[in-house]
Amino acid sequence: MANQRTLSIIKPDAVAKNVIGEIVSRFEKAGLKIVAAKMLQLSREQAEGFYAEHKERGFFGELVGFMTSGPVTVLVLEGGDAIAKNRELMGATNPKEAAPGTIRADFAQSIDANAVHGSDSPESAEREVAYFFGADEICPR
Ligand code: TYD
Ligand code: MG
Repeated sequence: MANQRTLSIIKPDAVAKNVIGEIVSRFEKAGLKIVAAKMLQLSREQAEGFYAEHKERGFFGELVGFMTSGPVTVLVLEGGDAIAKNRELMGATNPKEAAPGTIRADFAQSIDANAVHGSDSPESAEREVAYFFGADEICPR
């Protein structure tokens, strides 16, 4: 179980619902450590660049619109198998298909407003962490 870092975003719908703490608490209870965190209002350019892999998809415009609709919390989680562990805690992309007790099952309303983002591979985690945080903003512990 390799020690890993992964990027988590608490999306505008979850921030608006005032459940930042409840979501962070799930990460901590699962043994993941918060090693970086900030609140951000994403610009259109920031959201487009972050989700560049999806730019040809039909939902891209809506995704960017949603991600810029209000502030987000951006976190770096660290721990054993952090990437897969975070994806497990999140649940499926579509909250209607997410397992009971997952973040998306409990806090998301639709596939486009689905409460959280999590990196899906070591390569995307590396890119996504560096997209939002400089080395001096990450505090391993
Ligand atoms: P994706 O990377 O497939 O999902 P995940 O967030 O679980 O890694 O898609 C990125 C985001 O795009 C997803 O969280 C919500 C949005 N999206 C839609 O709005 N409609 C869709 O049909 C899909 C697949 C994604
Ligand atoms: Mg994804």
